[in-house]
Amino acid sequence: MYILGIETSCDETGVAIYHSDKGLIQHSLYSQIAMHNEYGGIVPELASRDHIRKLIPLIAECLQLSKLTKADIQGIAYTAGPGLIGALLVGAATAKSLAWSLNIPAIGVHHMEGHLLAPMLEEHPPEFPFVALLISGGHTLLVEVTEIGHYQLLGESLDDAAGEAFDKAAKMLGLAYPGGPLLAKLAQQGQTNRFKFPRPMTNRPGLDFSFSGLKTFTMNSLNNTEQTEQDKADIAFAFQQATAATLAIKCKRALQQTGLKRLVVAGGVSANTHIRQTLVEMARKERAEIFFPRPEFCTDNGAMIAYAGCQRLLAQQQESLSIIARPRWPINELTE
Ligand code: KG4
Ligand code: ZN
Repeated sequence: MYILGIETSCDETGVAIYHSDKGLIQHSLYSQIAMHNEYGGIVPELASRDHIRKLIPLIAECLQLSKLTKADIQGIAYTAGPGLIGALLVGAATAKSLAWSLNIPAIGVHHMEGHLLAPMLEEHPPEFPFVALLISGGHTLLVEVTEIGHYQLLGESLDDAAGEAFDKAAKMLGLAYPGGPLLAKLAQQGQTNRFKFPRPMTNRPGLDFSFSGLKTFTMNSLNNTEQTEQDKADIAFAFQQATAATLAIKCKRALQQTGLKRLVVAGGVSANTHIRQTLVEMARKERAEIFFPRPEFCTDNGAMIAYAGCQRLLAQQQESLSIIARPRWPINELTE
């Protein structure tokens, strides 16, 4: 069964074709970053309009590269939320209209479930059950996963998401949007042991996160220097190190608390090399297996949506062709 996947929840138009037996066939991505860059962040209305412009040509491109036609597609998966409402509606309306015209089912996918299942697209996918750390621009979640659709929330960020903290700290350091990858690059020039950032919420029990204090620490540290390139690089290094260490402490705690020996790490921030290395080292010490998506599937993409939708369609899940999009959608409301 060929499934078309559509992702339009934020600033990336992602399209993919996944086959239930053959795996991922093709994926295409168009990033709006250059357009939003000028404004220092995402302008939701511009995002929606750009999805309208790019989505149908991207679907056509993906079909052509796969040597398939619309008639080969047997189901359509689209991101139904959470995300920017206008952007979500472009994907939902396109998916449902196309499904209606082809007389095939369409299924709405939870964006964070898409991220959570992204490592399933790799050569060595994790087996269930596992602990998942989801670190994106909008969410930071620790989830106990027993099978697809069985998600127990273990912890979440009480303020900024990890990616959001990266982006805000990067902005303070004078970097462009989205600053996460740029901050990581700057941190490569940074010296260790110059700034000591805190590891928020690690000295008390629990699995929730708080990243807004690291942002304040970034600003205060910056104001205490002459703000040279070296100062900025040293601060970027300390910020990244503190974030990685905090994530590792919480993941270790989640593995110990659940007794599980498998950790999945996904979402945009999981593309960060230092964070990956820190978590790999923690998992090694805990004798746990660790799984990541390939870097291009850490950030938003259509492949993870096609995969998640395919699993739900194979499980006979159905929905009406009325158009639904949810800007807010807690992951623990999902059913099996
Ligand atoms: O998962 P994603 O593409 O979109 C959301 O669902 O939010 O995540 C985007 C976030 C942004 O905050 C971006 O700065 C961050 O992921 N990000 C990174 C890196 N690559 C992307 N943060 C740190 N280091 C990176 N290499
Ligand atoms: Zn995402």
